[in-house]
Amino acid sequence: MRLLVTGGCGFIGTNFILMMREAHPDWNIVNLDLLTYAGNRLNLLPLEASSRTASGGDYSFAHGDIRDPEFVSALLEEHRIEAVVNFAAESHVDRSINDPAPFVSTNVQGAQNLLERARRHGVERFVQVSTDEVYGTLGPEGRFSESTPLAPNSPYSASKAGADLMVRAYVETYGLDAVITRCSNNYGPYQFPEKLIPLMFLKALRDEPLPVYGDGRNVRDWIFVDDHCRGVELALLKGRAGQAYNFGGNAELPNIELVKTLLDLLDKPHSLITFVKDRPGHDRRYAMDYGLASRELGFEPRVSFSQGLTQTIEWYRDNAAWLDQVQSGAYRDFMDQWYGERK
Ligand code: NAD
Ligand code: DAU
Repeated sequence: MRLLVTGGCGFIGTNFILMMREAHPDWNIVNLDLLTYAGNRLNLLPLEASSRTASGGDYSFAHGDIRDPEFVSALLEEHRIEAVVNFAAESHVDRSINDPAPFVSTNVQGAQNLLERARRHGVERFVQVSTDEVYGTLGPEGRFSESTPLAPNSPYSASKAGADLMVRAYVETYGLDAVITRCSNNYGPYQFPEKLIPLMFLKALRDEPLPVYGDGRNVRDWIFVDDHCRGVELALLKGRAGQAYNFGGNAELPNIELVKTLLDLLDKPHSLITFVKDRPGHDRRYAMDYGLASRELGFEPRVSFSQGLTQTIEWYRDNAAWLDQVQSGAYRDFMDQWYGERK
């Protein structure tokens, strides 16, 4: 397959490309990434160095913007792309609260540009990587299914919902063969240290206070990144055009329990936990019913939360240089401002 992956230098995109390279060494993979603060080309540098596999597959990196019509068209043409998986996005909820504009621009307009280019160039399959956050929030009971109405609460989730609706319009209006995946909270290697698990890991190692929002009872359904990547692969290969598929990890946890577990694994005291001002519009609980993906695609998460968390901690311990290197000035500026306001 000749596949365009966007956002492949981010957390999930990196893991996806590494997994696809192993699983399908005959595929030609083009990775289009703008290299924002969250994108790191070094993640996949070994693939650039030995781009061609023994099975004839290839890997190449293209530095560019999913919002650029000419650039995307040229890539699709040059590589005769058959399928697109769109991971590229502004992905952090807190940043979207600070400044929604880049979220609308990349997540909605960027996705629309990719859809339009895909349509014009006869791309055979398009996968839009979306999120459970488009459904909004749950009370103590129930789970999100694919028929749950979209009710996003943050500028981030509203922008992702906007893209999902655009995908729907391209399927209905132009007959584009596109599917949507909606997954819960990922964790694992290469996650940028603004998200809960790597941020708390970093703070704990430095014996700094761990900032838990509100009462710490907000619940997330955690999934190891490899399980999400397998879900995206299944949607790419077997998904029904026009269908959205939920993926979850069967690991619902209140944030405070997760943070305590992490501290215990790192042998650090719970006294490092500091409750700070809540995130505005903070969704209370997410939980996924992934029965449709299970029945139609054969999806099941394979990695338990305790296995995945141990593996993740080991990766961050072994990759301290990676953690240092991704903390740019822009990263530090945002963190200082955001957490300064939460005290
Ligand atoms: P990330 O922030 O780690 O990576 C995003 C990548 O997109 C970066 O490499 C960045 O450089 C690139 N990018 C941003 N704007 C771009 C543009 N205009 N053009 C080209 N590239 C651009 O994000 P992630 O956590 O890996 O998430 C990937 C996708 O999965 C996103 O669409 C996100 O909404 C979705 N998702 C994430 C999670 C999660 O828990 N992290 C869960 C469900 C869905
Ligand atoms: O559910 C899928 C979504 O998961 C993805 O679509 C998003 O791209 C991804 O960023 C993630 O969003 P969350 O907002 O759920 O993830 P985050 O790691 O930012 O926060 C997880 C929970 O931890 C949330 O309830 C807020 C809380 N939190 C987070 C941070 C960064 C804290 O209590 N303190 C913190 O410092």
